[in-house]
Amino acid sequence: MNLAGKKILLIISGGIAAYKALELIRLIQKSGGAVTAVLTDSAKHFVTPLSVQALSGNKVFTDLFSLTDESEMGHIELSRSADLIAVVPASANILAKMAAGICDDLATTLLLATDKRILAAPAMNVRMWEHEATVANQKILAQRGVILLPPDEGPMACGEFGYGRLPDPEVMLAAIAQALGAAGPLSGLRAIVTSGPTHEPIDPVRYLANRSSGRQGHAIAAALASLGARVTLITGPVTIPDPPGLATIHIETAAEMAAAVNAALPAAIAICAAAVADWRAQNTADQKIKKSGATPSLTLTENPDILKTLSAPGPNRPRLVIGFAAETENLLENATAKRARKNCDWLLANNVSTPGIMGGADNEILLITAEGAEAWPKMSKKDLAKKLAERIASKKELLF
Ligand code: CTP
Repeated sequence: MNLAGKKILLIISGGIAAYKALELIRLIQKSGGAVTAVLTDSAKHFVTPLSVQALSGNKVFTDLFSLTDESEMGHIELSRSADLIAVVPASANILAKMAAGICDDLATTLLLATDKRILAAPAMNVRMWEHEATVANQKILAQRGVILLPPDEGPMACGEFGYGRLPDPEVMLAAIAQALGAAGPLSGLRAIVTSGPTHEPIDPVRYLANRSSGRQGHAIAAALASLGARVTLITGPVTIPDPPGLATIHIETAAEMAAAVNAALPAAIAICAAAVADWRAQNTADQKIKKSGATPSLTLTENPDILKTLSAPGPNRPRLVIGFAAETENLLENATAKRARKNCDWLLANNVSTPGIMGGADNEILLITAEGAEAWPKMSKKDLAKKLAERIASKKELLF
């Protein structure tokens, strides 16, 4: 991990896991990065400003109204002189304040005043993490591009068990390096990746879906981020975890995915790996549809085509738009026609009738570009994602 020359403003909020922030400071420094720390009032109950100052080797800031601090460095400057702001641990309280835009102390004022990327590593009791209010705040923050590191599952200091534990300092360091794009070939570029299936409700308990696992899209998002791109992953319901170090937005339906993609623009790169449902029920029943003797019929209506919309010419069109083609026959012919129809730059075509492709760990594709078709051998979805990200990075003329 190379963080040489990178400046991290570390905001420590109150929580039993705050001690792990000390280890994180050590790891950032070992990687060549510099840390300036800010403690909230409640953080001071768990770690002392003195220990943080001794470890970071820099003045620790705690008070919004400290005149000395303001004469040395104003809070606006403090929030902007860093390359990244990391909130570790992020309590339910600070997440709520960030979501609401409340700035009633130094930490929250810096978070509102900054123009830099924010990464937050939440840690709290599992009930607090899963509370509707916290879930709503997570959504708002992810939508705004805040990177939320998913907490770990395990026993908690309060005696309960579940999600809410602060990840290990090594995991947080990797996410910070990824978020900083530690000088990868794609740093400075924004990318949008769609992944997973969409669920189209029929009634409150039933929905239309498909077998997509999200593995390919998630792997692509992670591979782009590891080369330094600033990635927004927009995913339908999947059982795999969010990749660390990037902003993940969870949606259910194609219409929600289309809206989230639109909100994430502009971007230099867009990759549509989601298996978006082509149709949705024309009318969604408010109550569960009961058996009535007769066979019910379902009228479908077409969903918005996200890839086609993204590829349409216009000021917000990403410079490189990549789609997938799930085909069961005449792969080359159908996929070539699909690329032209959707107006995307590259298309990765796969034969989804091959057992194990949809939902499995491996993939085998044909890359179709304006130059023609190129067959890639069967490989793991992770390797394919890496190869694709490297291919994208090698086409600098398309991206900048
Ligand atoms: N796609 C999309 N929005 C849709 C449907 C598809 O963004 N409403 C994207 C997929 O993410 C994929 C590409 O379009 O990148 C092709 O998806 P595919 O299912 O193969 O094609 P369809 O457009 O659905 O065409 P068909 O089902 O007729 O083959």
